[in-house]
Amino acid sequence: MGYIRVHDKLFDPYLSQEEIQTRVGFLAEQLNTEYAGKKPLFIAILNGSFIFASDLFKKLHIEAEICFIKLASYKGSRSTGHVVTAIGLDADIIGRDIVIIEDIVDTGKTLTEFLPQLRNQQPASLRIVALLHKAEVTKYPVVIDYLGFTIPDKFVVGYGLDYDGLGRNIPEIYKLVE
Ligand code: IMP
Ligand code: MG
Repeated sequence: MGYIRVHDKLFDPYLSQEEIQTRVGFLAEQLNTEYAGKKPLFIAILNGSFIFASDLFKKLHIEAEICFIKLASYKGSRSTGHVVTAIGLDADIIGRDIVIIEDIVDTGKTLTEFLPQLRNQQPASLRIVALLHKAEVTKYPVVIDYLGFTIPDKFVVGYGLDYDGLGRNIPEIYKLVE
């Protein structure tokens, strides 16, 4: 695999399809074991996690549900600051075993703001599965219960992740050439 161009930038190969699938299989095995007999509800966060969520979900052999939400952030009043709201979360959370599916945790801000809102709805349990974690730059600590890969602070595209709207359909993960 060589360089690719997305918009004005060059990216080079970082994680192959095989590396990704092997790791997704490993995460699914962990979930199959931990959630056997529990009927968890997976909540995938759009847009970035749609391919990861699809591959992961296909590898689950347990009874499980999935729904997809979008997180919209906007500037609230001075007292509330930055606010994140979930669009499309119509499922009943109360008493359920919830697993959030996220593509990448970068600063951790998005999940740090969203998780308390879910906890307020009193799930039986709440865990996170994330494909990628830029651990060096996570300023808002998020406990990722099931993690694909820890990656350096490099911008990545492919496998659902975009650069300004493009690149989501690339089957591998590429990183920005600097
Ligand atoms: P956080 O709130 O900083 O953790 O932001 C996480 C979100 O930013 C992810 O769900 C992605 O949508 C986006 N993001 C962060 N890093 C990257 C990247 O390297 N490539 C593409 N999207 C990214
Ligand atoms: Mg995302």
